[in-house]
Amino acid sequence: MPRDVSTPAGARAVTAVAPAKINLHLGVGDLRADGFHDLLTVYRAVDLWERVTVALVDGDDADDDEVVVTGPGADQVPTDRTNLAARAVDLLRSEAGTDARLSIRIVKGVPVAGGMAGGSADAAAALVATDRLLGLGLGRAALEERAARLGSDVPFCIRGGTALGTGRGETLAPLLHARAEQHLVVALADDGLSTPVVFAELDRLRAEPGGARELPRAGGVEPLVEALAGDDPARVAGVLANDLEPAALSLMPALRRTLRAGAEAGALRGMVSGSGPTCLFFCADREQAIAVAAEVSETGVAREVRLTRGPVAGAHVIDNPQQTPEQ
Ligand code: C5P
Repeated sequence: MPRDVSTPAGARAVTAVAPAKINLHLGVGDLRADGFHDLLTVYRAVDLWERVTVALVDGDDADDDEVVVTGPGADQVPTDRTNLAARAVDLLRSEAGTDARLSIRIVKGVPVAGGMAGGSADAAAALVATDRLLGLGLGRAALEERAARLGSDVPFCIRGGTALGTGRGETLAPLLHARAEQHLVVALADDGLSTPVVFAELDRLRAEPGGARELPRAGGVEPLVEALAGDDPARVAGVLANDLEPAALSLMPALRRTLRAGAEAGALRGMVSGSGPTCLFFCADREQAIAVAAEVSETGVAREVRLTRGPVAGAHVIDNPQQTPEQ
């Protein structure tokens, strides 16, 4: 018997938001037999948000099970059941044992294919919204377990804050002491980069003669974890690492110009975000971030430049779909 899903929460639609992630440290190990790489990473949630509304659709309504995506880059996001938010909804719907028809509306606030986990944030927000809508009452640990089945970064998009990630990135340990606010500039590229292609490029570069020597691997996270306990942005900037950066630069050499523009603008440190091609510029404070954003924007190297900051909260339901997410 399908459950009556219209009663538990009393709601007909639930909206949840989930943040973008950056990797302050991204150490990539060797390719595993399952096609993933072992990671040692420090994730941080930043205040760029995906907004996902999941709604019960009446039986005779034509827009049953539809996925509608709006916002920057929406035309590059699939609207069939391969959409990561749709996969999240389908997972919980089958777990609830219901055939309720659910529509999904996604408002993009995170760059598409930009190395900031926009698709993973959609899945995280969809899990949180569907859990509430169907009255499943899954706790955070159970939601993160479902999240890990959908993608390596999805559990962190639920968790938020700052966390150490191991395994393929899905095993999390919170870094509760890392509370100092960090201001940064996000420079978006014209095109996206595919995450699997960037990982494969790193494997290829490492296998080249001399590759292992030319691409030293990011070491341990201890210096970063220690720096995050303080409030010196320059110290944190000095110990950031991203093993995927050479691979992203190899696939998109123009990113070097973007990184140079940020350095010339006085940022403490420029770095490719995750698998790229978004570039991040870490700044001393908000004033510097505003100045760096203006200067990088003026050089024309980026499609768009945004200010952001972290850490912020993970995925959560919002009562009013227009509401600003919790910080
Ligand atoms: O987990 P997710 O679906 O986000 O991963 C996308 C792709 O990125 C994987 O199919 C894999 O090619 C690559 N990846 C990896 N090692 C990881 C995470 C992702 O090789 N730890």
